Amino acid sequence: MLSYRHAFHAGNYADVLKHIVLCKSLEYLIQKPRSILYIDTHAGAGQYALHSKQSTKTDEYKNGIGALDFSCLAESINSYRDIVKPIFSAGYYPGSPLLAAHMLRQQDKLRLFEMHSTDYPLLEQLFANDRRVIVNDSDGYHSLKALMPAKQARAVVLIDPSYEVKNDFQLVVDAIKQAHRRMSAVHIMLWYPIVDRQRVDRLMKNISGSGIRDIWRFELGMETDTHGYGMTGSGMLVINPPWVLADQMLELLPLLAKQLVTDSGYYTIEQLVAE
Ligand SMILES: C[S@@+](CC[C@H](N)C(=O)[O-])C[C@H]1O[C@@H](n2cnc3c(N)ncnc32)[C@H](O)[C@@H]1O
Repeated sequence: MLSYRHAFHAGNYADVLKHIVLCKSLEYLIQKPRSILYIDTHAGAGQYALHSKQSTKTDEYKNGIGALDFSCLAESINSYRDIVKPIFSAGYYPGSPLLAAHMLRQQDKLRLFEMHSTDYPLLEQLFANDRRVIVNDSDGYHSLKALMPAKQARAVVLIDPSYEVKNDFQLVVDAIKQAHRRMSAVHIMLWYPIVDRQRVDRLMKNISGSGIRDIWRFELGMETDTHGYGMTGSGMLVINPPWVLADQMLELLPLLAKQLVTDSGYYTIEQLVAE
């Protein structure tokens, strides 16, 4: 049974990084008219009340979206800012499916997977009137495999597990390899936590040794790695990114780091495998 609830963490610094990379990628891809299939393998509830019992218990958003001063960030943050600002002002934070639904167009389709018995109905309800969206309570990894290759010429996948299942680090590698084998042009974004650096290094090694090309990673660390308990940072691994993404992150990440991380914090931009 799944116990993780994203409501405790929504809007934290990890969400900010993840969602900026997502919005920047979609912003580029929607410039061409051909339709896109967006797949969110671990979709969450779609939207989170920041006054909820869960959110106020951790107050994590205060060190994420709550600490961002958009006026000091580069213009390239605009698509994320324009969606998040009004929702945040109303006391909520948008999850990845809602951000994607805002970014995408009428000709695009969204397939969302969420297995938690509380979050699935919330997600379903949120998109009940959006004909572009199909919500399922099935396993996101298996469903991704079944959807590849997509009927649409272009597909964008966000894989954002809670890593509460021990073998999630292996499952994400298998899912990425299978999806890429079936559709080599697929754009894949994988979120990963930095709790144990060795585990992250193994993940990078497994993906960069898979034969897949054009892989980047963008990391934001709140503090230097420790052997202690808990997450000290997070990253986004991106396969087949829009060619402009690395330059945009090169401009944005130092500014984000300045606002969000401690003195011992850091950011990383690395091309793991060339095109
Ligand atoms: C980190 S949260 C997702 C947050 C969301 N992507 C966002 O950015 O707003 C991970 C979610 O995955 C769900 N989940 C865990 N294992 C799953 C699986 N195998 N298939 C689909 N959903 C799963 C959890 O219930 C949880 O809601």
